[in-house]
Amino acid sequence: MQIVLAPMEGVVDHLMREMLTQIGGYDLCITEFIRIVDQCLPARVFHRICPELLQGGKTRAGTPVRVQLLGQEPNWLAENAVRAVELGSPGVDLNFGCPAKAVNKSRGGAVLLKETETLYQIVKAVRDAVPTAYPVSAKIRLGYDDTSLTLANAEAICAAGASSLTVHARTKSDGYRPPAYWPWIARIKQHITTPIIANGEIWTAADATLCQQQSTCQDIMLGRGALAMPNLAHTIKQGSVVMPWPQVLELLMHYSEFEIAGDKGKYYANRVKQWFSYLKLQYPAAARLFQQLRVLTKSHDILALLNAERANMARSKSC
Ligand SMILES: Cc1cc2nc3c(=O)[nH]c(=O)nc-3n(C[C@H](O)[C@H](O)[C@H](O)COP(=O)(O)O)c2cc1C
Repeated sequence: MQIVLAPMEGVVDHLMREMLTQIGGYDLCITEFIRIVDQCLPARVFHRICPELLQGGKTRAGTPVRVQLLGQEPNWLAENAVRAVELGSPGVDLNFGCPAKAVNKSRGGAVLLKETETLYQIVKAVRDAVPTAYPVSAKIRLGYDDTSLTLANAEAICAAGASSLTVHARTKSDGYRPPAYWPWIARIKQHITTPIIANGEIWTAADATLCQQQSTCQDIMLGRGALAMPNLAHTIKQGSVVMPWPQVLELLMHYSEFEIAGDKGKYYANRVKQWFSYLKLQYPAAARLFQQLRVLTKSHDILALLNAERANMARSKSC
């Protein structure tokens, strides 16, 4: 069984990838998407989104990190895909699932699920351009408004030569509303030979088992669940217990140091709040802390709050 850490724009940056793969259980990471319009992007753009390119396309724990591209123009996507692998990405992933209005308006992301032929042209162009040793994967939702094209889209992506297909088992219109329709993935699997990775709404080891059963797929991708429970992959693969809150707090301190040093604190407040918005689903202590944290904007205030929580915990432990 392979577990892939999902791309999550604005949340799963290289520091988050570093930390989660250090905890372990992930076989592959996909980066946040890089938007391709009508040019070959300079190396610095790839390095900004995927600094792991400078260390062999892997996190320090040794997990490969594949660059994800989003766009609608087959040739520009192909050129940028070649650049990504030349810069050290162990393959390329193509995003056909992004629901953002701004992206869809310019014909990128999930809106392409209405254009089966374009999906084919894009995957084919990228597959033909990238050396065969490098995987070219695609990530889709079940459709845009409905599932009328689900099977045709999957077949087109398979016919174009994709190495694997991740299916987020909801339409764009479903947004992130539960459930994820895992049995749909089983239907797709009956129609194509491309290996499929099941994605959507896996929050616990029990969810992972049910998803595997209903989708008939071994391999899964974890998104928000990986943030809600930092050792979710291990709980799935090894039956580990859920990471206790004090350990999560230590991780948060570690992440904060990293994030503030790495980006000089520019994105820290937003990113740590985003992370908390998932942690609070799993940990009551995170929900309590989030009430105070959400109004803070300065890195040092957030750090002070986390330190106070740590001191409180140490005190209550020694009592
Ligand atoms: C904040 C956020 C950002 C995301 N960014 C991306 C992205 O850059 N590329 C992509 O293919 N999917 C993106 N996704 C979708 C996730 O990769 C995943 O398919 C989705 O969250 C469903 O999986 P989950 O239920 O395990 O979270 C994003 C999702 C969220 C919530």
